[in-house]
Amino acid sequence: MKQTRITEKLMYVEPDSMARFSSCAGLMVHSKKTIFIDMNLGESDARILLSQISPDAAVITHFHLDHSVWTHWAETDGVPVYVPAKEAAFLSSLDHVVAHTAGPLGYGEQWRAFAENTLGFRALSHFFSYDEDTVFLEFVPEMVVMATPGHSPGHTSFYFPDDRILFSGDLGLDRFGPWYGWQNCDIRDLVASLLRLDGMKIDLVLSSHGGMIQKGIPDLFTAKIKDVLRREHRIQQQLSAGKSEAEIIENGVFYPHKKKVPPPLKSFLTMWDAVMFQHHKDLLADGGLAAFFPELSEIAVPRQ
Ligand SMILES: [Fe+2]
Repeated sequence: MKQTRITEKLMYVEPDSMARFSSCAGLMVHSKKTIFIDMNLGESDARILLSQISPDAAVITHFHLDHSVWTHWAETDGVPVYVPAKEAAFLSSLDHVVAHTAGPLGYGEQWRAFAENTLGFRALSHFFSYDEDTVFLEFVPEMVVMATPGHSPGHTSFYFPDDRILFSGDLGLDRFGPWYGWQNCDIRDLVASLLRLDGMKIDLVLSSHGGMIQKGIPDLFTAKIKDVLRREHRIQQQLSAGKSEAEIIENGVFYPHKKKVPPPLKSFLTMWDAVMFQHHKDLLADGGLAAFFPELSEIAVPRQ
């Protein structure tokens, strides 16, 4: 793992590898007490850090397994776990995870096996819920909890106003752009979340999968909305050109290079691209993203 001291209170921790959707970068916050946010570094490093630091609380930004599976080791160590209230059921039941992710898409059994055997999912029996009204008074009173849904229904970002730092979770502020590959993702919510953050006083973004972002922050949120608009435009063009849905999905919405990916990951990438395509198709049927956000008409989207 790589630990980067950001301030006296904040330590950004990146895993050695993020292969196979198994891990993410997290944040250690040392304030009144110590909390871990999204410390899913892989079993060995996550457990080492839990035992070395003995945090007072473990928090996750959202239920996705590459952010959440470490919490059962925290629970085993007696560390209270905090989960976004809208996603609490995902932590206590793999059946619920499967039924609300890959199950309806025809990949339930593959996803269940992957979650249990590769990612090490174990249901939690005891945890706390939080939402935007929660103040982590006892632990980190200065941390602002920001609901930033869209990537998932309860996705949350954490803002540290004293240092103008945002832990952005999976908002997609990195080079990959926003991801909305499950049916309970919502492009409109995601864009609203990005617009909400646009204009905030932020000097440093700490992301879950794209490292630290320092440059170009004033334009960052608009740039990510442009990524979404560009995808919409590309899909619209292909539909107009008479391409089939299967062709468009094979060409890629988020994953353009699926051909050489080994199973079962290749089917997961195709599944996620199919869902992202469907989200765009549904939006286009309602007039496209700009129909819901008139302010976007001022954003020039570069064609490619
Ligand atoms: Fe995620």
